[in-house]
Amino acid sequence: MSNAATEPVQKKKARKGTLGRLMKYLMLQKGKLLLSFILLIIGTISFLYINYLLGDVINILSTTKDIRSIDSIAIIMAGLSITTLICLYLGFRFITDVTQNALFRLRQEIFEHMQKLSLRFFDKQPIGELMSRVTNDMDTINNLFQAPFGLTLQSAIMLVLTIIALFTLSPLLAGVAVVVIPILAVFVAVLAHVSSPSFTMLQIRLGDLNGVMEETLEGQRTVISNRHQTASSEKEAKISTDVSKSGEKAHILSLFITPLCLMASFISIAIVAVFGVKMLNEGVLTIGALSSAISYCLLFILPLFFIFFNYNFWLSALVGAGRIFDILDAEPDVKDKPGAADLPPVAGHILFKGVNFSYIPGRRVMKDANFEATPGMKIGLCGPTGAGKSTIINILTRYYDIDSGEILVDGVNIADIKQDSLRKQIGVVLQEPILFTDTVMNNLKYARDGATDDECLAAAKAADCDAFIMRLPHGYDTVLIDGGANLSQGQRQLLTIARAMIAQPKMLILDEATSNVDTRTEKVIQGAIRKLQEGVTSFSIAHRLSTIKDSDKILVVDDGAIVEQGNHNQLMAMRGLYYNLYMSQYKGKIGEVLDDIIAINKESAGMT
Ligand SMILES: Nc1ncnc2c1ncn2[C@@H]1O[C@H](COP(=O)(O)OP(=O)(O)OP(=O)(O)O)[C@@H](O)[C@H]1O
Ligand SMILES: [Mg+2]
Repeated sequence: MSNAATEPVQKKKARKGTLGRLMKYLMLQKGKLLLSFILLIIGTISFLYINYLLGDVINILSTTKDIRSIDSIAIIMAGLSITTLICLYLGFRFITDVTQNALFRLRQEIFEHMQKLSLRFFDKQPIGELMSRVTNDMDTINNLFQAPFGLTLQSAIMLVLTIIALFTLSPLLAGVAVVVIPILAVFVAVLAHVSSPSFTMLQIRLGDLNGVMEETLEGQRTVISNRHQTASSEKEAKISTDVSKSGEKAHILSLFITPLCLMASFISIAIVAVFGVKMLNEGVLTIGALSSAISYCLLFILPLFFIFFNYNFWLSALVGAGRIFDILDAEPDVKDKPGAADLPPVAGHILFKGVNFSYIPGRRVMKDANFEATPGMKIGLCGPTGAGKSTIINILTRYYDIDSGEILVDGVNIADIKQDSLRKQIGVVLQEPILFTDTVMNNLKYARDGATDDECLAAAKAADCDAFIMRLPHGYDTVLIDGGANLSQGQRQLLTIARAMIAQPKMLILDEATSNVDTRTEKVIQGAIRKLQEGVTSFSIAHRLSTIKDSDKILVVDDGAIVEQGNHNQLMAMRGLYYNLYMSQYKGKIGEVLDDIIAINKESAGMT
């Protein structure tokens, strides 16, 4: 799945690009970032200066014992401590503002971008995996931005300033003390080389895990009814084990970092002590300067420790950011042409001319489709499952662009106009009614910007929704939970019909709109649909042919081709696919009726 381990150079380059891009989000608040940088420098200088003054105190105590001058040094040290506290607090505070703003922008961008992407993008990505990117991967950046980012920045400042301070005390001691840095860096680089591919793997595996979790939770009923709980748990456990393994390998660096840094600090102190004592004996170094030098050794190992310790956060965040930028870089497949105009209000004339289409290149799903729908016409679509009925709808609404041919609405090629202006004029009612976690009223208003309460009420009445809405605890203000789980399937469908009425479309799509409800509810929905269809060019897809029997024109689709078209009588006279489909459904009904009659007869015979 991942080729992270096989492309280290490419990955490294990609990480560099990702880092630059991530930093651009921080640069959105350049001024604040610069200010926090300056504050951290001032805070660190004051902190290091306290250490320098400690050397002076030791010198005074070991030579003149002038307590009064120690008093004044103590006052300066107290002032420096307060400066350190204030500057570091404000510095970190501003960094938090900058990083949180960066995260906010990134989250907004990704959400807005995902809404612009075409369905083809979502076809390729399991939703759970995408959710993982916007949650887990986003969290890795959040984790870096919370404390590690500021700490790394301050540690880098402290490392540089400590070495400068050591240098001002004694260039020779500074020279010998920093010898441990390259040695430590080599160790860390080797460990990082081992662990970094695992970070990519870890994020990918977490994505897989989320995918399985989401699928299992969404399909919980199916899982239970098929008694697949054990198999699902095993699948989850396997991926979970992979996640743990990748996690262990990825964090190998953090296991070694504490002992490595402790060892480095002992070595550098020992070297400085050996050279320092020699210089002390030669009279070129004071005891106070030596003690400051030794504490500087500790002080430059401390930031190194923080830098290396936080390295994991940086690696995770860069992998996470890379995966998020992948989404941001995904171009929508269906794009408006430059300068594309709005589709003017249409009458609803639709013409398919030699339309060819494939979801996956090379696998043609729609073959040379030709048909015409005049304004107000009721078009029925039928054919075996997988024939291409929904596909006709998907390309008419331009969810996908076609390979060749033309789709004209009122004579305008839909490829030449803005997608939004087309979709605004098409109402859609699908098999699975989609409602949002919001009030009933807002769900109705979703159809059209600026729809008034009165319009919504009228539509709800026309679509037979008003009675059951009024029975809800807060009427139109009742919040629909989890896509309308507090309503029956039929009620949800009626609401989507009311919503489609509010949109006042000139073209209407009904894809198996009544296939999930019982016959009585179907009648109610059919009544609402008939009102919705008045004066509108409509496309109804139905497996039950009785639903579309009365259409002005029926398109019979088979294996991606429109094989027959005409009204019911014409198609029956053809004695082709439609005739066969119709007869098989009709036969089924006769059989059922006969079975019922036989059963009733048997029962009454037994009773007498
Ligand atoms: N998003 C997709 N990506 C790839 N192939 C797809 C996609 N959607 C549909 N197909 C394929 O296109 C063909 C037509 O599918 P379509 O959904 O149009 O059938 P349908 O006639 O609506 O079937 P049903 O009656 O079952 O709804 C099928 O072979 C299907 O596998
Ligand atoms: Mg379909």
